Amino acid sequence: MKKLVVMSGKGGVGKSTVAANIAFALTMKGYRVGLLDSDLHGPSIPKILGLEDLKGLEVVDGKLKPAEVNGLKVVSIQFLLPSKDSPVIWRGPMKHKFLEQIFNDVNWGELDYLVIDCPPGTGDEIISIFQLAKPDAAVIVTTPQSVALEDVKKAINFAKKGVQKIFLIENMSGLICPHCGNRIDVFGVGGGKKLAEETGVKFLGSVPLDPEIMKSCEDGKPFVKLDVNSAKLFKEIVDKLVQEV
Ligand SMILES: Nc1ncnc2c1ncn2[C@@H]1O[C@H](COP(=O)(O)OP(=O)(O)OP(=O)(O)O)[C@@H](O)[C@H]1O
Ligand SMILES: [Mg+2]
Repeated sequence: MKKLVVMSGKGGVGKSTVAANIAFALTMKGYRVGLLDSDLHGPSIPKILGLEDLKGLEVVDGKLKPAEVNGLKVVSIQFLLPSKDSPVIWRGPMKHKFLEQIFNDVNWGELDYLVIDCPPGTGDEIISIFQLAKPDAAVIVTTPQSVALEDVKKAINFAKKGVQKIFLIENMSGLICPHCGNRIDVFGVGGGKKLAEETGVKFLGSVPLDPEIMKSCEDGKPFVKLDVNSAKLFKEIVDKLVQEV
């Protein structure tokens, strides 16, 4: 089984969207895939996959059984909270203990890939994930502007200490105007590729800002299933990832 962490030094750049859609795209390719949401304070995976109303996970033979959507197995702290709006108020040691339990007590069955969605930055959760899961690869998500790139460089340097293979995806890379068809570079463009060259990590490609992507997250349906250009670009990114991992 290959373990992929999806991370970034920056919040809101699309990590959870990318993680959910990588996992879903791998499932569509016939792989057996698990998706672990390790964002304990802001778990987004249930919403993105339409599992937000799920409460509790089944226990079979003393182990937690992941939720399932189209064959993709999913675990998120959100399923275990008393209510949809309950916050998690834990310091580092509690978070570590919880993640350790997840790694010991979830029965994923046979998997080809475990994709792990991480919270932003390089704090408690991700330190624990690197310790407990010993990932094979890190997929780092950035947006093109230097306000993001500077933090993302820190995440790359963090990942270099723990994984052999590091990949970079530039998300929100330009917007095709739905009215005139011209491209608007809202956050600039090309910063991700340049950062990858500078830091010696593999650049997997760019995903544009696309209202369809935002809408699919709102609707709980992975955009990679849609017949749109950004889904095609994203599937090419996943093909490259599979080849390289
Ligand atoms: N390429 C895109 N085009 C349009 N909307 C996008 C794109 N990528 C992500 N989004 C939207 O941006 C928002 C943030 O995405 P997401 O939650 O995946 O980011 P994140 O990096 O996981 O955030 P956090 O740091 O809070 O975990 C969501 O509403 C998502 O639908
Ligand atoms: Mg997220």
